[in-house]
This record gives sequence, structure tokens and C-alpha cells, in this order.
Amino acid sequence: MNESSSPHRPLQADLPLAGEVKPQLELLGVTKRFGGVAAVDGVNLRVGKGEILGIIGPNGAGKTTLLNCISGVFRLDGGDIRWEGASIAGMAPHRVARLGIGRTFQIVRPFGSMTARENAAIGALFGSSDARKGPKEAFEIADQVLELVGLKAKAGRPVAALTIPDRKRLEVARAVATRPHLLLLDEVMAGLNNVEIDEALDMVRTVHATGVTVLLIEHVMRVIVGICDRAIVLESGRVLAEGEPEVVLRDERVIQAYLGERYAKRLRASGDEDGTN
Ligand SMILES: Nc1ncnc2c1ncn2[C@@H]1O[C@H](COP(=O)(O)OP(=O)(O)O)[C@@H](O)[C@H]1O
Ligand SMILES: [Mg+2]
Repeated sequence: MNESSSPHRPLQADLPLAGEVKPQLELLGVTKRFGGVAAVDGVNLRVGKGEILGIIGPNGAGKTTLLNCISGVFRLDGGDIRWEGASIAGMAPHRVARLGIGRTFQIVRPFGSMTARENAAIGALFGSSDARKGPKEAFEIADQVLELVGLKAKAGRPVAALTIPDRKRLEVARAVATRPHLLLLDEVMAGLNNVEIDEALDMVRTVHATGVTVLLIEHVMRVIVGICDRAIVLESGRVLAEGEPEVVLRDERVIQAYLGERYAKRLRASGDEDGTN
């Protein structure tokens, strides 16, 4: 019997996964409520090892909440989350981090009086189990990740003296210093100009090239199309659409719910010109 027709295949088994059959991360009916409102409402998702998955959707769609569910910040009100096949639902954030799931925070709160290098070293000290080292090793890792994100020259500066784009870089550096197998990025390119976005894209590509799976929330469509293998669109806590980024961004429901008419017209015009629509 053909494998894809097996009755034992898990949910959404027909989704393309970057060269892997078994998902690294699997969300099954994940639900999180605040008061009576479901901020995340029965989300099913599979992420393959080595994939770059983009999460988009309007403000309040539940994107950050979903990340908080994965990283153990919130307890689930329903469903399950599996990492390498084992449930991590209900696990404390530091234990999730030790499994190799690293994350950034949308609202960056570095230790302002400490240097960029010290902040990155903290990431190395509190990261995944294979990264838990002494201070000397932590600073070595900090130097490596600061170089990787382009902050090497500013390593000794207090964070309070860094620009916003540099603080975003440092937030990624701190997360990468935990030596994650899966990196969760929450709008790390928000507020950056085009040149800075290109630099940030290179940074994500470099991290990904070291074998890290990436799940990123972004509003910048160029980022989603530029580096993501796949995109999911959240709206009101539910998955509205899912697939190849170019296809998802042309989905009428996505345009209506999120992208807006102006963007849609531009997309249609360009589609007509190059004959792709
Ligand atoms: N800690 C919280 N307490 C109460 N409501 C929350 C909390 N975090 C998020 N929400 C609500 O959940 C919904 C989804 O928010 P969020 O996940 O931050 O959306 P997004 O990241 O897509 O903009 C919103 O209605 C928001 O007000
Ligand atoms: Mg958010």
C-alpha cells in the first residue's frame, strides 16, 4: 500500500516537509484561551528538521501566543506539542530551552547596563544541555554568535548604547548562543530599513546553514518570500492558509484577511505583467 494512503498517518501528512518524513516539531490541536477568548484555536502544524517556516497574520492573530505555547511560557488549554516525537506540553520554559528550542522575544528586554558580549554569554550559559558550559566557554560562544550577527565590533558596548537594529541583532545572538536546534524568531526585522532587512536575512540564512530549523513571525513579505520554504497564515487563532509562500500570498482569503486591497492590486498587476496569473 502506498504510504500516503495509510490510515495511520498523522494529521496533515500531505504537507511538504524539507526532505524529512518525521516532523521535528508537531502541534496537534493547540489551544490557548485568555478569559473566554481562544487566542490560539486548535492549531495543527508540522515542522520538518531544517525547514524555514514563516508565520504571518494580522495583529492579534495569535502568532506570539503560539510561540509562547511552543516555548513553554503558556500552558495549553487544549492539544499537544511534540518535539522529536515526545510531548513537551506543560514543560517549563527552561526545560524546553534545554531540549534545543531557542527563541527571541518580540519586546526586546536586554540587560541594559551589561555589554553586548555579556548578554550573549548569558544565552550560552542558559541554553540547550549541550551548550551549558562554564563562563569561559560561554564567552567563546558569545564571541562566535556576535560575529555571526555582525556585532563583533560592538561586543564591549553597553546594550543601552546600541541602536534598535543592533538590539534586534543582539536578541538573535542571545537566542543563537543557546545553541538551539529550532530557533523561534518573533518579528526580529520589524522597524528595520531595507538594507538592515537584507543584513538580517543573511543572518538568518547563516544560522539556518548551521543546521538550525527556523520558525519566524514576520510582517515583511519580502522576508517570507525570500527565505521561507513554507508559510502559514494565522487569523483569529486559526490556520487560514498554508503552503508555498508565493502561493499563500496570492490566496484570496489571505489577501482579504491580512494583506489588504492595495497590496492585492499591486500583486495582480505584477502577476499580469509577468504572466504568472
Ligand atoms: N498575556 C495575555 N493575556 C491576555 N490576553 C493576551 C495575552 N497575550 C495575548 N493576548 C491576546 O491574545 C490575542 C493574540 O495576541 P498575540 O498572540 O500577541 O497576537 P499577534 O502576535 O499575532 O499579534 C490578542 O487578542 C491578545 O490581546
Ligand atoms: Mg506578536
